[in-house]
Amino acid sequence: MDRDGGVLPAAEVGVFPYAGTPEQDLQLGLFAAAWQEGQLPFWSLSETQAMLAGDSCRAFFAAISEHAQWHGVVLVEVTDEWSDLLYLYVSLAHRRTGTARLLLLHLLERARGELPSPTVILEVRPSNLAAWGLYQSLGFVEVGRRKAYYRNGEDALVLKHPGYEVPWVRR
Ligand SMILES: CC(C)(COP(=O)(O)OP(=O)(O)OC[C@H]1O[C@@H](n2cnc3c(N)ncnc32)[C@H](O)[C@@H]1OP(=O)(O)O)[C@@H](O)C(=O)NCCC(=O)NCCS
Repeated sequence: MDRDGGVLPAAEVGVFPYAGTPEQDLQLGLFAAAWQEGQLPFWSLSETQAMLAGDSCRAFFAAISEHAQWHGVVLVEVTDEWSDLLYLYVSLAHRRTGTARLLLLHLLERARGELPSPTVILEVRPSNLAAWGLYQSLGFVEVGRRKAYYRNGEDALVLKHPGYEVPWVRR
């Protein structure tokens, strides 16, 4: 296992809802710690858990199996108007293997199917080229900018996925 809890690449990756299991909470802590140690830290575990405690918050994990190590997580706040993507993290060991794309395609499918609105919105740092590339490849478009949104004073770009068309993406 690497320092943020990943394992070697697996042939089969599935998506599972957050169910508050000890394994998932442990993995959330590992993801939060790894992100906090990076150059652009984001929420701590307690901040993530506080968000998850809200009625409108849902999280999905990608994993090799329900009981195995988790590759990544996406956390969204669901309202009648849209789903707001609040948190997306993939373990270092599994970057660039399609985990984030899998999680977002799953989210977009659910938004179109069972969530109150098909629209998904999010904020991203202009300097986060990996995330920006990911969102663009899935059809997100820029709809606004929040000034000095992040702790280091960086603006946030507001992106939106209209939800009417989920792209077919070649892996
Ligand atoms: C951004 C992040 C979630 C991407 O996760 P990932 O699982 O590695 O992404 P995927 O393998 O699904 O990549 C899908 C596409 O995203 C883009 N992408 C991903 N990583 C990239 C990188 N380092 N540079 C450029 N484009 C990248 C590419 O278009 C890629 O498609 P391709 O591999 O066919 O070229 C991951 O780097 C991460 O967890 N970063 C730290 C947390 C973070 O920044 N979260 C987003 C906050 S808004």
